[in-house]
Amino acid sequence: MTTSPPPAAAPASDSTLVRAARGLPVAHTPVWFMRQAGRSLPEYRKVREGVGMLESCRRPDLVTEITLQPVRRHGVDAAIFFSDIVVPLAAVGVDLDIVPGVGPVVAEPVRTRADLERLRDLVPEDVPDITESVRMLVAELGATPLIGFAGAPFTLASYLVEGGPSRTHERTKALMHGDPGLWHDLCARLARISGAFLRVQASAGASAVQLFDSWAGALSRADYTRFVAEHSATVLAAVADLDVPRIHFGVGTGELLTLMGEAGAEVVGVDHRVSLTDALERTGGRWALQGNLDPALLFAPWEPLEQRVREIVEEGRAAPGHVFNLGHGVPPSADPDVLTRVVALVHEVSAR
Ligand code: CP3
Repeated sequence: MTTSPPPAAAPASDSTLVRAARGLPVAHTPVWFMRQAGRSLPEYRKVREGVGMLESCRRPDLVTEITLQPVRRHGVDAAIFFSDIVVPLAAVGVDLDIVPGVGPVVAEPVRTRADLERLRDLVPEDVPDITESVRMLVAELGATPLIGFAGAPFTLASYLVEGGPSRTHERTKALMHGDPGLWHDLCARLARISGAFLRVQASAGASAVQLFDSWAGALSRADYTRFVAEHSATVLAAVADLDVPRIHFGVGTGELLTLMGEAGAEVVGVDHRVSLTDALERTGGRWALQGNLDPALLFAPWEPLEQRVREIVEEGRAAPGHVFNLGHGVPPSADPDVLTRVVALVHEVSAR
């Protein structure tokens, strides 16, 4: 009698994350958390001691270790590449820093044609360390998929034009409406930079990508359509031939979900302000959905948190595919043990 070898673990390209993103059946709902690699973990704070944020993003040893930390600890179904949306901008020479507790701060904001001319394209040779980090990670991760990411043109433009984080995006909107030609040229340049950055990660072995348009929720549908959509579409199109599912996420983008899907994604990210049921109705079942536990619920007692997780898993069953996530990033003060418990609960209640 011959015995067949045990079945090999599914490759990362056939993992629950990739399958759910493609709307294929899965054994359980995949779960990962935006900002899972970061300050909520004591092991993260330890390895980051005395190393600046941008520097840590360019050191393959640190990138690999930090990206793996939440996978080891929580048993999530995907790793998110440890980097930042402004890393490619710094790589093409933009003078910026990531200030703890503040965010990206740009020394010379981009507001004129001459400022734009200083912003050059990104080539893979600018970021050989990113290729190296992704390769190391993919080898370590085995069957667990790695999600690569980039910032969308609007969100990047906001940091560049404002010079730092902004709640109102006033200067950005003033430029958009006041000089549409310059605005479109700036976003086209940023789209090429972000597209190249995504392509580096996907070419080196990332199994999926996420485009973060964190601040797009500040825009009306009309302005998103006129000033932003085509540029985000350019970024997503940059990896269209690489067979990686694309997730498109923004905060407060309940009114933009369909437009964000139409930009060229397989998965639309939903924050916690819109239920998955409403998101499904709005998007007509055209895309898989990702989301959407309110990060604040991580601080609630277990009972209401558990109930909410169960509801989200249940709502997600109606979608063509569902990737469980938070509605936005893990708060730095979240208890990591709660995250671990949420992962186990999602796996348990979604098992099929
Ligand atoms: O775990 C992960 O999600 C992977 C790593 C990741 C980081 N930034 C690491 C980081 C990802 C995916 C990002 C994306 C990012 N960066 C976004 C989009 C996601 C979102 O939250 O909407 C945005 C808007 C940025 C810009 C940025 N960088 C902000 C707003 C901040 C926080 C500033 C602060 O200190 O409050 C950063 C810094 C940053 N990026 C940190 C981390 C872990 C904190 C730096 C530190 O540990 O000192």
